[in-house]
Parts: sequence; C-alpha cells; structure tokens
Amino acid sequence: MVRQGALLYEGKAKKVYATDDPGLYIVEYKDDATAFNGQKRGQIVGKGEVNNRISAVLFKMLERGGVATHFVEQLSPRTSLVKAVDIIPVEVVVRNLAAGSMAARLGLQEGTPLARPVLEFYYKNDELGDPWVTEDHIELLGWADAATLQQMKAMAIRIDQLLTAFFRQCGVTLVDFKLEFGRTRDGSLVLADEISPDTCRLWDAKTGEKLDKDRFRRDLGGVEAAYQEMLARVEKGELA
Ligand code: TMP
Ligand code: ASP
Repeated sequence: MVRQGALLYEGKAKKVYATDDPGLYIVEYKDDATAFNGQKRGQIVGKGEVNNRISAVLFKMLERGGVATHFVEQLSPRTSLVKAVDIIPVEVVVRNLAAGSMAARLGLQEGTPLARPVLEFYYKNDELGDPWVTEDHIELLGWADAATLQQMKAMAIRIDQLLTAFFRQCGVTLVDFKLEFGRTRDGSLVLADEISPDTCRLWDAKTGEKLDKDRFRRDLGGVEAAYQEMLARVEKGELA
C-alpha cells in the first residue's frame, strides 16, 4: 500500500498528491465544477466520486483494449493511484457528431453527423483560454514531436472506437470528448487525466437527453441526477 505524500498540484477538478513511490501519484477528484475557462464556478454534489468511479471503469476497459493509460487502481470513492507522468500540454478533442464549440464556430446544428471522427488540438494554457492550435504549432513549438503526435492521433482514434462501443451498450451516444496524454518515468506515452461526464458529451441514445457537464454549462438543471445516471449505466455496462 502506497502512502500519500505532499500535494503537488491543485487543478479545477482534481488534486494530485505525491506518494512514497516516485513513479506513482494519487489523484483526488473534487466536486468543484468550472466552465468557460473558470469564469463560471459551482459545485456538483457527488461529482468527484462519480468521475473517479467512471474513469476507473473506462481506463480498465481501454487497457483491456490495448490502450496504455496512467491508471493503476482505484483507492477510495474519490481517489485513484496513477503512474506519475509529465503531461503533454495539448488537449486532443475527438468528435463523432458536431456539437459545442464546433457547432457554434461552423454554424452547424448540434447533432450533425460526421462521416468520420474529427480531431482537434488545443494548447493547454489557462491564461490563454486553451486556444485552438494546428499540428504544425504543436510540432514547431515543441509541445510534442512529429512521432509522438502521430501516436497520440492513433491512440485517440482507437480510444474513440472502444469508448463508442462501450457507451453504446450503456444506451448512450458518445458525441465528443477530450483527452490528455503524458509520458511516464520510463518514457512511454500513456493516456492520462480523466474520462468522465466532465470531459465527454454523452446523450441518451433514445431520447437525446444530455447526461454530461453541458447540464451545468448551460444551466439545464438535473446536473447531479445526470451524473448519477451515467455512473449507474457505466457500472452496469462494465458487468455486461
Ligand atoms: P467543446 O465543444 O467545448 O470544444 O468541447 C469538446 C469536448 O471537450 C466536450 O466533450 C467537452 C470537452 N472539454 C473538456 O473536457 N474541457 C474543456 O476545457 C473544454 C473546453 C471541453
Ligand atoms: N474545464 C473548463 C474550464 O472551466 C471548461 C469546460 O469544461 O467547459 O476551464
């Protein structure tokens, strides 16, 4: 059993602690919610536990599907043990249907199907509001080299296939989601951060009801209930 050490980093939705093993961190998921680069703030009661438990199920499922992740094991309702990584400062967004910022920017109706997954890249920088960047920016500004970027893209597509199939059996359409990658101490590239209703758009496959953070971003109400509904479906899906 590892021992929890000093707080290394506190983000908007998680805290990261050192452990007595330099290759391992403990992440603690918080109920705090922010949107629009921190301009909107609130709490979603129970969210920390929901996101930790959903991420645990999904990371294990992805590992079984051949995707390397930072996940080691869930430690408690709100905490998990993960491999220590240096995060690559690029957020990879994968879209199966047009929604959110893509729909707004390009004047598309939300839910417009896309013939194949669309990948987008954002520079992870709060002060700049996570600006959209191109593959050239990523490579030439040194955030990731060309080979790493190709690996991230291939992993993102594989993750989309695995997640889409998993959520389908939960009666949920995976509209889009955001990924972060990191390098472990031994230099391997792994999926990091979380996969949860905070970082995915998840619509009920029959009714189209939103079961994700858009309920908070857009003041739709029923936020806690939507997170609990997703947890129940994902944990049932894990057993299927
Ligand atoms: P977007 O449509 O606002 O660009 O969001 C695309 C996806 O990325 C959506 O599933 C929500 C997720 N996302 C995050 O996880 N963090 C963020 O900061 C943003 C802007 C989006
Ligand atoms: N995580 C983001 C923020 O508050 C925004 C979002 O998820 O919409 O900065």
